[in-house]
Amino acid sequence: CFKQKLTFIAAAKIASSFPPTRYAEIAFAGRSNVGKSSLINALTRQWGVARTSDKPGLTQAINFFSLGNELCLVDLPGYGFAFAKDHVREDWEELVKEYVASRSCLKRVCLLVDAKWGLRPKDQELIQLMESSRTRYQIILTKTDILPPLDLARRATQILQILKDHRSLIQPLIMVSSKNGAGLSNLRASLARVVSR
Ligand code: GTP
Ligand code: MG
Repeated sequence: CFKQKLTFIAAAKIASSFPPTRYAEIAFAGRSNVGKSSLINALTRQWGVARTSDKPGLTQAINFFSLGNELCLVDLPGYGFAFAKDHVREDWEELVKEYVASRSCLKRVCLLVDAKWGLRPKDQELIQLMESSRTRYQIILTKTDILPPLDLARRATQILQILKDHRSLIQPLIMVSSKNGAGLSNLRASLARVVSR
């Protein structure tokens, strides 16, 4: 299904502008700059549909993209972006939480974690929310092209150890690089199960 055309359908800054729940949704969450928009482009090989930037905080609304007729990929605004004005930052964070905890067609959240930095407090906050709302999620380690394999393996083990009793977590952790393409086919296969179910 990742060969289908990716089409922007809506940007929402408030919950009342979320589009109708027509498609199964897979959302991409994580800290600002972790590579969410880049991963949506890389997974679909459709560059530039989800906008990316060196400057953290580019995605400032929840962006919904349909992928063919069966699936919607959802680009969430990043959290933990230090330079945003406080009230703006709180608004995005609340919006992300509301979406994740209550969107009925949300089948899975890909929580992106920078391989270099690992889990941060804001990630843990979102994980707690997903556990309590029983939102199924999986961890995606990003930017694996910048770390040696041994460090990557250590990072993965560390995260799985921290999350070992988490019930809504889908195993195993997947490591990707949008830059060199590592792990993308693995992730596509894992996400395709959401649709075929
Ligand atoms: P926000 O929209 O601010 O939340 O950020 P985002 O998570 O959507 O990140 P985005 O995809 O815009 O990428 C941020 C920066 O990281 C850009 O400069 C990307 O080129 C870079 N980047 C993304 N993926 C990778 C990767 O796999 N490897 C490397 N080395 N850089 C990456
Ligand atoms: Mg983005």
